[in-house]
Amino acid sequence: MGEYSSLLADAVLRQRTRAAEQTARLESELANKVKSEFISNMSHELRTPLNTVIGFSKILAEQDLRQVQNEEVVEYANLIHDAAIHLLTVINDILDISKIQSGRYTLEASELDVKEILQAQIDEMRSQATAAQIELIGNFPSDIPEIRGDRSKLDQAFANILSNAVKFTRPGGMVKVEAAPVNDDAVAIFIRDTGIGMTPDELQIAQQPFGQVDGSRTRWREGTGLGLPIAKSLVELHGGELEIRSQKDVGTEVVILLPSRNHVSTAHARDTVL
Ligand SMILES: Nc1ncnc2c1ncn2[C@@H]1O[C@H](COP(=O)(O)OP(=O)(O)O)[C@@H](O)[C@H]1O
Ligand SMILES: [Mg+2]
Repeated sequence: MGEYSSLLADAVLRQRTRAAEQTARLESELANKVKSEFISNMSHELRTPLNTVIGFSKILAEQDLRQVQNEEVVEYANLIHDAAIHLLTVINDILDISKIQSGRYTLEASELDVKEILQAQIDEMRSQATAAQIELIGNFPSDIPEIRGDRSKLDQAFANILSNAVKFTRPGGMVKVEAAPVNDDAVAIFIRDTGIGMTPDELQIAQQPFGQVDGSRTRWREGTGLGLPIAKSLVELHGGELEIRSQKDVGTEVVILLPSRNHVSTAHARDTVL
């Protein structure tokens, strides 16, 4: 009997080990798949602008042979310039993402005034919104607690979200930024737009690295598809959360929850706000 039960225990143990091994294998396969998808997307994103640079610089070099007109020279130089700038943006974003994902990302921590940070980002975006005929409004009550965080990283996160709101809203639309204290231990920030919105499927695509809902060839110059994942990671590094709600043709709402200076745990606030 003793022997039987030890045999049984062995069998159970073996079974468990096998199950654990299988889970680990599936997990690493998934991680590899995500990694190779990332690399293949990245290569595509780098190759497209590089081809522009190579192709048009070649044409310019053969100006005599091809009888390139003056205004064409200017046009091609501008295409090369835009492609190079885009390339730099993609590379900077990729470096950011991989730094964040490596887990070795360090944040500067100082006391920050959320209102002031958001207002600065609104001011930064003002001319772009005006040019696009979009009303850009900030509305902040006076009782928003300070948060502890990294100013430049939060600037980057808010800039990414706010630029999307402006970019994906049609003329005549509105972008509104608001903030509110939550339970004495967190601050909620709302960035709402009356823009093109997303279906649930599109929203999923949007949140993936390089994910752009309208993946048409003309879109590549307008962004890298890394803005949202970077913003979300930066917020999470601060112990916060970022959630997106969207309705096609109605608008999008991004809710960012950040722990305030004297917070203990975000778990409670998380349950009540999001
Ligand atoms: N406020 C928004 N309204 C509608 N679509 C949005 C909004 N924000 C993001 N998206 C969608 O999510 C995609 C990914 O956004 P993001 O990661 O910032 O990349 P990018 O701005 O470079 O395209 C966008 O291309 C767009 O399709
Ligand atoms: Mg963006």
